[in-house]
Amino acid sequence: MGLLDGKVAIITGAGGGIGRAHALLFAKEGAKVVVNDLGGDRAGGGKGAELADKVVAEIKAAGGDAVSNYDSVATREGGDGLLWSALAKFGRADILVNNAGVLRDRTMLNMSDADWDIVFNVHMKGTFYATQAVARHLKTQGKGGRIINTTSVSGLMGNIGQANYSAAKAGIYGFTRTVSMELARYKITCNAIAPVAYTRLTEDLAMIKAMGDVGKEMLAPEHIAPVALFLASDLSADINGAIVGVQGAQVSVYRMTQTSGVAPKAGGEWTAQELRERWAEISK
Ligand code: NAI
Repeated sequence: MGLLDGKVAIITGAGGGIGRAHALLFAKEGAKVVVNDLGGDRAGGGKGAELADKVVAEIKAAGGDAVSNYDSVATREGGDGLLWSALAKFGRADILVNNAGVLRDRTMLNMSDADWDIVFNVHMKGTFYATQAVARHLKTQGKGGRIINTTSVSGLMGNIGQANYSAAKAGIYGFTRTVSMELARYKITCNAIAPVAYTRLTEDLAMIKAMGDVGKEMLAPEHIAPVALFLASDLSADINGAIVGVQGAQVSVYRMTQTSGVAPKAGGEWTAQELRERWAEISK
């Protein structure tokens, strides 16, 4: 008995890194998997069938069932195409993991429109298009469902050199929260993972490089996949709108916090001077 027996899962960007680990584990747990990958480089250039096909072959060699899809999630047609692959091959869809991603790191001062647009389109619009297509189907199917998005500590906390990426990933945070509220009535949950893993996206980061082979082991994408499996399974029916951090073996939950708030002493309007004087109290 697998945790995902009888389910069909669509996983975007599943041709490598974290998405591949999700796909292999989901298939091992009984899911039929749509392995989506555009097959380009990490900056969003090029495309090809090889990445997705290789993962499908791995799944089949292990006795599972999967189909390739090469659509770009960054277009509405691509989002619809994901769903059609699932319906055409397997007759249904139950789980969507929005995982595809690219990076174009630049400081905000040096950011071009092209660097902004490609990152925003793949992460933010890609998540929207796929979620809308699949959620409409899930609603009609009437059996609930699971949507798992991929955000980042860069979006939740900020990171120098990633204004485009952090804006998109913070957008995915807000999107996850709202979608979780809107779809709850259909028993469709929407959660997000904020991973840290050694993949082609992160292999040249100084922190990761400094860890050497230990880092490859400690931050293997296979650590992220069990969290995606949990959120995709019936075990997490009561978990909705959560942002789950996964860094190696460490799992945590991110929350937006607000301080308790204070009112001006005179009872009227704040003055800029009083805000200055009481900033420590306001922000505590
Ligand atoms: P990766 O580069 O190995 O995987 C991303 C996959 O998405 C690639 O196989 C790529 O071909 C595919 N892809 C890119 N554009 C696409 C498009 N338009 N349509 C369909 N597929 C497309 O990188 P990794 O690290 O596995 O990233 C997976 C997700 O995790 C991304 O959303 C990334 O932003 C996120 N993430 C990763 C972190 C890490 O530490 N590796 C940290 C925080 C977030």
